[in-house]
Amino acid sequence: MKLYHNARFETLDPANPFARYILCDGATIAYVGNDKPEGEYDTHDLMGHLVTPGLIDCHTHLIYGGNRASEFEQRLQGVSYEEIAKAGGGIRSTVKATRASSTLYETAAKRLAYWLKQGVTTLEIKSGYGLNLETERKMLQTVRALAQNFAVDIKTTYLAAHALPADYDDKDTYIDDTNIWMKTLNNEGLIDAVDAFCEGIGFSPAQTRRVFETASRLNLPVKLHADQLSNLEGAALAASYNALSADHVEYLSDAGVDAMAKAQTVAVLLPGATYYIRETKHPPIQALRDKGVKIALATDHNPGSSPILSPLLIMNMAATLFRMTPDECLRGFTVNAAAALGLSDRGMLKAGLRADFAVWDVAHSNELTYYVGHNPHIATIYKGEIRDL
Ligand code: NIG
Ligand code: FE
Repeated sequence: MKLYHNARFETLDPANPFARYILCDGATIAYVGNDKPEGEYDTHDLMGHLVTPGLIDCHTHLIYGGNRASEFEQRLQGVSYEEIAKAGGGIRSTVKATRASSTLYETAAKRLAYWLKQGVTTLEIKSGYGLNLETERKMLQTVRALAQNFAVDIKTTYLAAHALPADYDDKDTYIDDTNIWMKTLNNEGLIDAVDAFCEGIGFSPAQTRRVFETASRLNLPVKLHADQLSNLEGAALAASYNALSADHVEYLSDAGVDAMAKAQTVAVLLPGATYYIRETKHPPIQALRDKGVKIALATDHNPGSSPILSPLLIMNMAATLFRMTPDECLRGFTVNAAAALGLSDRGMLKAGLRADFAVWDVAHSNELTYYVGHNPHIATIYKGEIRDL
């Protein structure tokens, strides 16, 4: 067993918020406390640093071909994200580049390194830039390959209902096909959860419902890109299917908040996208707090609305843009992000949970939210072992 000591462990466990020792039995935490456990252990000195649970990024589109730097330039000239999408750019241009790419694994692996260097121990990666069976499969297989080769846990999400590909004219016909592929890819063990983009430029609530019906029949948990650019009551629809999360939710209504509270659907806020597309409407943070909806944060890393490779920067954006507290930001990338992925075995430092934690060169956890462009990460312990980078 490994004993980690000489650190300030910030556990996020309300019953035991701070500790000086953590004992790991393999990949599992055996003890967290202020008293040194009796016995002979393999001891590791963490040099007085601050330790938090490993960060969890619960919403990313990390795998894609190409980039959209030229669309960024168009947007700087005043063309909106929606206008670019309607003109056949946006997600569709990344679909073209993704279908053509022969280096999906390599480009994603290069990006993933930034997450590992910021103490991330679990992340989610979506498909959704293939939009045909072959390339959706390739994306999900690439996620599984990354998980095999890197010391990080990665969950896959099937997001074929992301945009209408250029080779279809009818959204309903396309949804029929994505539902068939969902069954195939689920049989291949490639899907951990199912997502859709419910929006004018994406799919209607009725089409989203058809995606969720198929997912439910396959016992797959659902989540939704909901109420991002307009209010289609997507979050309430997601909650009616006991969704793990409703994500973005800038335009979330009071009824949506109530439905999420009742279903315990987590609100995944993506301030990087808010910032990057210069959205001025912000999620109803106070209503979410008042109704006890758990708030998670994620990078939403993608080539269009959030080409941001830093969970720490997102924590700062949540504070500056949304007025979330540093404590809420840290919970958003740990315990509440675990809830957004349906994972109850991580997100806090507590006996019985996974021994995933990050070591930081800061005196207080509020510094993680405070700095911009500084990475105080020292080391990561993944499944009880110090992770090599
Ligand atoms: O989460 N909103 C839809 N999907 C992504 C953006 C995808 C893209 O622009 O490529 C998002 O913001
Ligand atoms: Fe997204």
